[in-house]
Amino acid sequence: MSSLLLTGIGQLVTNDPGVGDGSPLGLLPDAALVIEGGRLAWLGPAAEAPEADQARDVGGRAVVPGFVDSHSHLVFAGDRSAEFAARMAGQAYEAGGIATTVAATRAAPDEALAAGVARHVEEMRRQGTTTVEIKSGYGLTRLDEARSLAVARQFTEETTFLGAHVVPPEYADDPAGYVALVTGPMLEACAPFARWIDVFCERGAFDADQARTILAAGRAAGLGGRLHANQLGPGPGVQLACELGLVAVDHCTHLSGEDVSALRESGTVATLLPGVEFSTRSSYPDARGLVDAGVTVALATDCNPGSCYTSSMPLCIALAVREMHLTPAEALWSATAGGARALGRDDLGRLAPGGRADVIVLDAPSYVHLAYRPGVPLVIEVLGPAGGGGFPTGV
Ligand code: NIG
Ligand code: FE
Repeated sequence: MSSLLLTGIGQLVTNDPGVGDGSPLGLLPDAALVIEGGRLAWLGPAAEAPEADQARDVGGRAVVPGFVDSHSHLVFAGDRSAEFAARMAGQAYEAGGIATTVAATRAAPDEALAAGVARHVEEMRRQGTTTVEIKSGYGLTRLDEARSLAVARQFTEETTFLGAHVVPPEYADDPAGYVALVTGPMLEACAPFARWIDVFCERGAFDADQARTILAAGRAAGLGGRLHANQLGPGPGVQLACELGLVAVDHCTHLSGEDVSALRESGTVATLLPGVEFSTRSSYPDARGLVDAGVTVALATDCNPGSCYTSSMPLCIALAVREMHLTPAEALWSATAGGARALGRDDLGRLAPGGRADVIVLDAPSYVHLAYRPGVPLVIEVLGPAGGGGFPTGV
């Protein structure tokens, strides 16, 4: 097994407060690290670096942990650019647009769905994402949800069953029948390919009672729970997530003071998806208030063809800083260690000896450039293992 020494690192972000400057980012100047077999064999001051089979000097650039994108909907077919254009011309975003993608996804063969996921996963990796969670939710039949998850599983172990995305048109008059399908035969077919179960708990999708029923069935099938909640307006989803002790609740755009207190007390991660507010021209969640209140915040893309078709974690970092008032340090932490927390993974989102070598090199002297230079492709190298929580070999 050959080892690689990366030296000349002007600024190394470890996300280990026990290293370097003692801040949450664990910043180390003039650093080096050694990668062997997809693991970090060593990291520390460049002057103390051990020898390795190969050595590369990154010329004073910053090196940070790979991004952990804990929320995406990559299994889909079809195009909704006309819906986006209409929205930019003044039409409001509504959850109903999902039905367009459902029709196209049902009509697409497995190979086409897999090719689409592969393309987006490669796009993500080029932008520094080393772990991605992928949801189903555009099939909404037993067969189409199961094959969506089987496709997602080819790319990540962080797969989420979202049969409860919306009630499909054929069940419009029988939502209870659809919940019975989701919690019965559909769950049974999907659970083997999923780690998580999710519900879109929102007016126009599923209410709190339905969400509770679906999450309980998922838990009984061995799946961890997560929720889409409080995206389009205030609602009961965040409180439900906290009451059930879910690891994360996503969107959190419309929160009351009680919601914020519940998040702090439960330790449930609030995953914010600022690409959605950007792409739907809506008000952003109060990230500053959440962090100041002691809530753990993650950032993710929510990459999907409707509400937010970006795969870029650097864009989300820039939006979090510019629009949601996080500091560049907080935004980077939330996009790496925060994402790992949202997936209940302590092996991701940080750089430590013995741990995964999910390492990205920025064409910049400091991580601050991720927010300072929005839209610029700063990720010039992505190192580390493919597979596990990240991407399979060859992607
Ligand atoms: O996370 N909120 C629900 N689902 C997606 C949107 C899906 C779509 O519009 O196709 C979201 O924003
Ligand atoms: Fe989503």
